[in-house]
Amino acid sequence: MFFANALVILWLSQPLVYANMLPVAFGRGGKPIDFGLVAPDGRPLLGPGKTWPGLFGGLFFAVMLTFGLVVVAIAFERHELYDLWGLSFTAFIVHATTLAAGALLGDLLKSYLKRRRGLERGQAWPIIDQFDAVIGGFALTAMVDWPWFREAFITRWSAVLFMFLVYYVVHRCVSFIGYRLGLKSAPH
Ligand code: CTP
Ligand code: MG
Repeated sequence: MFFANALVILWLSQPLVYANMLPVAFGRGGKPIDFGLVAPDGRPLLGPGKTWPGLFGGLFFAVMLTFGLVVVAIAFERHELYDLWGLSFTAFIVHATTLAAGALLGDLLKSYLKRRRGLERGQAWPIIDQFDAVIGGFALTAMVDWPWFREAFITRWSAVLFMFLVYYVVHRCVSFIGYRLGLKSAPH
């Protein structure tokens, strides 16, 4: 039961995981979201690490990638994997979008707070760097459709806690690999 729940949480977390990983592939050379604006404290509002192509490329392809895997699931006659999203195509789009958009907004909020704390682009803010996307994705989804969020995530809370741990480890590994491949400027 616990294992099955953990797989459900992993399956439903896809949009926020992709939304957290994809921007690095689109951001290079893109216009910064803050247009280079500087806050009253003399530091960038968000910094050059948050770009428009990263934001919208990340959002669009996170939803498309999730959709692609849902199509694969249906092709393999695992319709229940589609039903988990909320029993209609609209529900799927809404929930995949809020999970991905929330992850991206959480990341933006984190960068805003990092700059206010005097941390440069790419400087580490332990724990927050690893969980901004999960917290953002969950928060936006819970706000937009609390009944679905409660049924999908809250009722599986112990699996969610476990996935937080998995997510932490995966995030550290993926970031490190991205750094070694030269995709990311910092290993976190
Ligand atoms: N990225 C982007 N647009 C976003 C988010 C990320 O273009 N909305 C790209 C940037 O090239 C960024 C890279 O993905 O450098 C890695 O993302 P992240 O680790 O979130 O940014 P950092 O460079 O570490 O910046 P910050 O200190 O603000 O987190
Ligand atoms: Mg970072």
